Amino acid sequence: MSTENIYILGIESSCDDTSASVICNGKVLSNVVASQEVHAKYGGVVPELASRAHQQNIVPVVQQAIEQAGITKHNLNTIAFTRGPGLMGSLLVGTSFAKSLALGLNIPLIDVNHMQAHILAHFIDEEESKTPPFPFVCLTISGGHTQIVKITNHFEMEILGETIDDAVGEAFDKSAKILGLPYPGGPLIDKYAQLGNPKAFKFTKPKVGDLEFSFSGLKTGILYFIQRNVKENPNFIKENLNDICASIQYTIIEILMDKLKNTVKQTGIKHIAIAGGVSANSEIRKRLILAEKHWGWTTYIPKFEYTTDNAAMIAIAGYLKYLNNDYSDISVTAKARLKVTE
Ligand code: KG4
Ligand code: ZN
Repeated sequence: MSTENIYILGIESSCDDTSASVICNGKVLSNVVASQEVHAKYGGVVPELASRAHQQNIVPVVQQAIEQAGITKHNLNTIAFTRGPGLMGSLLVGTSFAKSLALGLNIPLIDVNHMQAHILAHFIDEEESKTPPFPFVCLTISGGHTQIVKITNHFEMEILGETIDDAVGEAFDKSAKILGLPYPGGPLIDKYAQLGNPKAFKFTKPKVGDLEFSFSGLKTGILYFIQRNVKENPNFIKENLNDICASIQYTIIEILMDKLKNTVKQTGIKHIAIAGGVSANSEIRKRLILAEKHWGWTTYIPKFEYTTDNAAMIAIAGYLKYLNNDYSDISVTAKARLKVTE
């Protein structure tokens, strides 16, 4: 076996986080993330502001990642970058930067599918986490996606089910917005929910196919519930924030767990992973650990820092492609819409 050290620089800029990471033979040496605060007051990501912030952040973030890794840019073997899916203006910053740096250093370039990378974060070489065996199922839950994916091999994936409208991250963020919380509201709902009663209020779960999701009806239900109660008591939100958050979160997590149960029933696969920003949620993490005990599943929960958008997941996906000699041509372009299977 070769003892050569393979250094990969990963670059992520698909939405509102500018991130760069250096990994060596699958181990993370650095993972720098610059989150953009500018969107909080607008209640969502403003694409034009996101690309401008990427433009400002990309050079210092990449420099910091290389420095923290204790190497120089001349040690890099390959540059991996997010090609899509994401916001076009944001993707263009990372794509153009990666291409220029690869050209300047005369090293190969590898394009990475952001959604595959969320899943492949499970293959980062970490002391305390286990790697899922093939085939496994991954529930990919983020601000833009909600999918159940069957993974037969690193780059052989099949979508078993997905949302027919909003993503689960949107359900969290839009509910938070209704409650007057800033963007992104997911982590805040999680925080307040920990102090509340999950059974205080009841919201209706959507009726869709066994492996499909729908969150737009739930969002409307929450909006009407809040409007009705605020009309009677203007302080309703303030007085009940923890219970409201706990009840919303409980309903969302129940929906996710129901779908996972259906998936295990249909596929017989009991190796269950989660990925994407919403997998940072403390309740879904707890429920998956319980599922190991109650239903005999083996669950794979990513380290907290690899759940929301980060470049370490791009670098590991790049490393796995590197091992397959799967390089990109320098003419490669960003793609705003890209399926996990592409
Ligand atoms: O994967 P990600 O960073 O970006 C996308 O690719 O979309 O996911 C961001 C989403 C946001 O909707 C955010 O509110 C949600 O992940 N999120 C959470 C938590 N942390 C992040 N949702 C619920 N609980 C959390 N702790
Ligand atoms: Zn993401």
